[in-house]
Amino acid sequence: MQTKRILGYGVAVIAASVLVWGRFKAASPSYSLGAPEQDAVSPGASSRVYTPAHRTFGDAWRDFFNRRGEAVQPIAYTHQVHLVKIGMQCVLCHVGVDSGPDARIPGAQVCMTCHQAVATDNPEIKKVASYLQRGEEIPWQRVYGFSPFAHVKFNHAPHVRAGVDCKACHGDMTQVTVARRSVDMTMGFCVDCHKLKGASIDCTTCHF
Ligand code: HEC
Ligand code: HEC
Ligand code: HEC
Ligand code: HEC
Ligand code: HEC
Repeated sequence: MQTKRILGYGVAVIAASVLVWGRFKAASPSYSLGAPEQDAVSPGASSRVYTPAHRTFGDAWRDFFNRRGEAVQPIAYTHQVHLVKIGMQCVLCHVGVDSGPDARIPGAQVCMTCHQAVATDNPEIKKVASYLQRGEEIPWQRVYGFSPFAHVKFNHAPHVRAGVDCKACHGDMTQVTVARRSVDMTMGFCVDCHKLKGASIDCTTCHF
């Protein structure tokens, strides 16, 4: 059991290195084209199915009034285990976060770089494997985002460059399983920090 576990972590470390290498190879030219579809990362490396799916009419109604219901995820993923126990960096999974507007959500292929050898008996991992086998993306539901009526444009990269911690906008992810909306990103929230840090508060900085 002990050796199996140690072996599992060994595989995790190797796979993490492979992911880091993949990032270098994939670099960022795809982003300067402004076309996430022309992603340099191999197919399946990032999930493109990203549904705002409303499970019920009530959810749709709340979303219309910008009150999103809690997301229900297809896999019982855990941030805590991957961040605390394994010490992974956000950017290994959210590969776009330092290079463009979208942080992006990892696809099944990223999970399976480790999980083809780690925790293979776990029923959640079996679900991930079968998505990959069927050639389907994992239909993760959105947690953050603005109502289209607010016409907000947001870009991660300048924030990461300016050293703004993920925590300021997403709370402490080391404490959660799947993501939860823990910070209410109102206009006041954005503008207050922009004033504090001397970033632009022109309407057109954040609105289109
Ligand atoms: C860098 C390697 C690596 C990657 C990439 C990775 N995992 Fe893991 N994962 C692990 C390790 C190591 C464990 C801990 C296994 C243990 O404790 O026995 C784990 C544990 C888990 C568990 C079980 C958690 C628990 O309750 O103990 C689930 C579920 C899981 N991972 C899902 C995923 C999903 C979904 C993805 C893709 C979004 C993913 N993992 C990506 C290495 C990885
Ligand atoms: C200044 C606030 C802010 C910071 C700092 C920030 N985010 Fe975000 N994040 C957002 C907003 C706003 C959205 C929703 C964007 C939208 O829907 O247009 C978002 C969305 C996301 C998403 C959903 C997928 C996507 O591409 O939109 C992920 C994943 C994410 N952030 C991860 C991160 C990580 C990792 C960091 C740190 C490296 C980080 N964020 C730092 C504000 C922030
Ligand atoms: C092993 C891969 C992995 C790592 C590492 C990881 N995440 Fe995630 N993250 C995911 C997956 C899978 C989801 C989709 C499920 C969910 O919403 O929790 C997600 C979702 C999110 C979301 C919600 C996006 C949205 O709007 O739907 C945020 C915010 C986020 N992650 C932030 C972070 C931050 C900050 C870090 C580093 C401290 C981090 N993540 C590290 C895999 C990862
Ligand atoms: C905790 C502080 C903080 C918060 C919160 C914050 N920002 Fe920023 N924002 C910054 C900093 C610092 C910069 C970088 C300014 C620079 O590069 O000169 C920036 C830059 C930007 C830029 C790029 C501006 C440019 O000139 O390219 C946009 C767009 C933006 N923020 C939108 C938002 C939105 C929308 C929100 C709310 C969801 C938000 N920000 C919340 C600190 C913050
Ligand atoms: C730093 C970013 C930022 C700047 C600068 C900014 N806004 Fe906003 N604004 C937002 C965000 C984010 C929201 C959405 C908040 C939410 O969903 O709760 C918003 C929402 C709004 C809304 C409400 C839309 C709705 O949901 O009905 C109006 C109107 C608006 N902004 C006008 C302005 C005007 C006018 C200016 C310039 C004086 C401005 N904003 C400057 C970030 C910004």
